Amino acid sequence: MSLEKIDKSNLPRHVAVIMDGNGRWAKKQGAMRIFGHHHGIKAVRETVEACGELGIQYLTLYTFSTENWNRPKLEVDGIMQLLVSTIAKEVPELHKSNVRLKTIGDTASLPAKARRELDNGMALTKDNTGLTLTLALSYSGKWDIIQATKHIAEKVKKSEISIDDIDEELFSRYLATEESPDVDLMIRTGGDHRISNYLLWQSAYSELLFIDDIFWPEFRKEHLFDSVYTYQLRERRFGKTGDQVKKETK
Ligand code: IPE
Ligand code: IPE
Ligand code: MG
Repeated sequence: MSLEKIDKSNLPRHVAVIMDGNGRWAKKQGAMRIFGHHHGIKAVRETVEACGELGIQYLTLYTFSTENWNRPKLEVDGIMQLLVSTIAKEVPELHKSNVRLKTIGDTASLPAKARRELDNGMALTKDNTGLTLTLALSYSGKWDIIQATKHIAEKVKKSEISIDDIDEELFSRYLATEESPDVDLMIRTGGDHRISNYLLWQSAYSELLFIDDIFWPEFRKEHLFDSVYTYQLRERRFGKTGDQVKKETK
């Protein structure tokens, strides 16, 4: 897949990735699951670089879900340690590449060390103007909708918002993704065809792309380029007819 085939005027603004299959990839090599998580970092680096090369504005990576807390303690601890060491190691390079680091999720439940590294990384990169890289950590779509609802309800109680003000635009602003646009392209590796409680509201009209023959540690730049190319072949109709859409894009 060559970069030239990609139409730079029709890029997805926001790409979300469900980075799945680390454990199965490791098992295939007769290794522990954490070995797969370690090897997933190269795939993250390649994805960030590929998005930067294309000029994609928002990349949101499903890094640890609310439900992932239910995994064995050994694996959860291993992932948290890996998070701390990876952020510390990668942030200088991200900063050099003009990437702005963000997080979404119930980050208060992360170990203090992880929060500290993330806070430092976000503070350092906050004024960068390239790719916005958001890590979803202790995140789930239902958690997000509930935290937004509680926040809005508080404001209604204090008469800072009236019920009639609540519309899609206002609600979106209270979601953890704040000012990011809705997801255009959602990619999942690893062979499962589900959303697993990811960006539920934000993916209402996403193009879904399931890459069945790749586990996350095997994902490379070319897979991201292929995915964007496939996205560009899709017709996004948003409820209209194909004829209407063709007329509008003429
Ligand atoms: C995704 O890979 C990474 C995380 C959920 C942290 P998995 O760990 O889910 O790998 P599989 O799906 O069990 O192979
Ligand atoms: C989704 O993968 C979460 C992440 C990739 C971080 P899971 O492996 O946890 O999803 P399920 O449980 O198979 O649906
Ligand atoms: Mg999985």
